[in-house]
Amino acid sequence: MFFESIVLQVPATRAAWEHVYDIYSALGIASAVVAFTVIIYYCVRYRSGGTTLTASDPRTRENRDNQVKGPVLVYVLMAIVLITVASQSFATYSAFSTVPSSPTTIHINVIAHQFAWTFVYANGYVSEDIAYVPTNSIIVFNVTSRDVYHQFGLPYFRVKTDAIPGVFNPVWIQTTQPGNYTVQCFELCGAGHATMIGRLVVEDPATFNQWYSTTGASSSGSET
Ligand code: CUA
Repeated sequence: MFFESIVLQVPATRAAWEHVYDIYSALGIASAVVAFTVIIYYCVRYRSGGTTLTASDPRTRENRDNQVKGPVLVYVLMAIVLITVASQSFATYSAFSTVPSSPTTIHINVIAHQFAWTFVYANGYVSEDIAYVPTNSIIVFNVTSRDVYHQFGLPYFRVKTDAIPGVFNPVWIQTTQPGNYTVQCFELCGAGHATMIGRLVVEDPATFNQWYSTTGASSSGSET
């Protein structure tokens, strides 16, 4: 599909959502410019100027010739705006909801609980509130909860998913730059909801692999 081909060339996932945001912004600004231009034009064109209009005045409703063209133009512009934002949104959501799978994909289970995040790596390593991942990688988080409903969100990467007991919801990101990124709960889950904040540390692959090789099912760590 035409619109999908545009979106899918954008690197996932933050950039793809930023791209959609830019489209909404551009069309929103363009719509405002058109609307206010029309309003100002009509205010000037059809002002009374202190005189009383007569039936033969070209400015009266009965004598205007554009009673069809105006609405048609509005509907065409609205259709362009709505079709564009809808197709871009669905195409991006479609790419986002297809979880990539390759031998290099890193899978991490995320168990939400009041009021922290437990990360479980493929080798059994367990970490509380902090997760290490390499740059330039696809990371799939399989998110669940051990008590109430939470919502796992990575604001920088523009992704979120519900954390629900008994269900694993996948959400994935593509890491690029090294750094510290916020992990946050986005669903009111109790008195400690606001403090349910973790950290995603993106580091270069050599550092990550060196660290990961020292971990195993017998070890566990927490944020220090
Ligand atoms: Cu967990 Cu809010």
